[in-house]
Amino acid sequence: MKSTASAPGKVILFGEHFVLYGGKAILCSINKRIFATSQFLDEKKVKVRSSLGNAELDIRSISELDFGTTRFMRPFFYIAKRALEEHGENKGIEIVLESEVPAGIGLGSSSAVCVAVTASVNGLFERLSKQEVVKRAIEAERIIFKETSGADTSVSTFGGLMIYGTNSGFQEISSKNDLDLVIANSSQVHNTKEIVRQVRTFKEKNVDFFDQLCKQEDEIVNEALSALKKNDLNTLGLLMSKNQDLLQEIKVSTKQIDLLIREAKKTSYGAKITGAGVGGCIISLVDNSNLAATIDNLKKVADCFPVKIDYQGLLYI
Ligand code: MEV
Repeated sequence: MKSTASAPGKVILFGEHFVLYGGKAILCSINKRIFATSQFLDEKKVKVRSSLGNAELDIRSISELDFGTTRFMRPFFYIAKRALEEHGENKGIEIVLESEVPAGIGLGSSSAVCVAVTASVNGLFERLSKQEVVKRAIEAERIIFKETSGADTSVSTFGGLMIYGTNSGFQEISSKNDLDLVIANSSQVHNTKEIVRQVRTFKEKNVDFFDQLCKQEDEIVNEALSALKKNDLNTLGLLMSKNQDLLQEIKVSTKQIDLLIREAKKTSYGAKITGAGVGGCIISLVDNSNLAATIDNLKKVADCFPVKIDYQGLLYI
């Protein structure tokens, strides 16, 4: 018996980093997915196979090990061990991962994979509700990224366009906009946890300034919500570029990102980093009138591809 589930990556339209300090983020899942397929093994091991590497462990040693280069896989072992123990199953599990979401560039691959693995592994026993999947996937992700706001995991599970606050949780944005975005990759792989730490240090050294930036971000998010209701792409694009200015202030932009933003802004409605920054990707807002021109412009300086909003979230296959 095999159990397969898939979960989408995401982009953050507004509010990354500030969401960790009481602000809200607007984000959406995208039509690029991670697939996880699980099956029982007779030996009491958990095995993970993916294009980024393979790893296997005896179930007994899972909590003791430092995972070294396969550290990103640690949540998957935890998810499998928990499911086996909860169901008193005396077997092992193999998990095979396939991904359309490039890793380490701000597109939510680590959250999407936790969602897909949680649903797929537990699906060997029972299909968990989306509420239960998101709860367990956040717990699993916190093993390697304690500070996560949970935003990426939530949007990957429920799909669509949403506003998220760490205290208020997520709320669907009902206008169901059909946005077109172009993603351009700076090719600088980043470590979200490390960048979140850098921003925290920046905040602690610049308390009043950071406070002002949080207020400006709140205004941007509120205006963006109104613009989404009207599907006003001009205003949304301008707000994205304003948000990028704030991300520059907190030092998560780089020369390469600034270059991509300049190119993207020549033809699109607006552009900004998506995710933690200091590398990773930018997103630019387009529609049919400027999609091709924006791709032509950006592909001179970076790998780029168009995406749309995914309204499905987690899928059992
Ligand atoms: C990462 O995609 C977004 C951050 O705000 C971290 C988080 O919300 O967990 C940088």
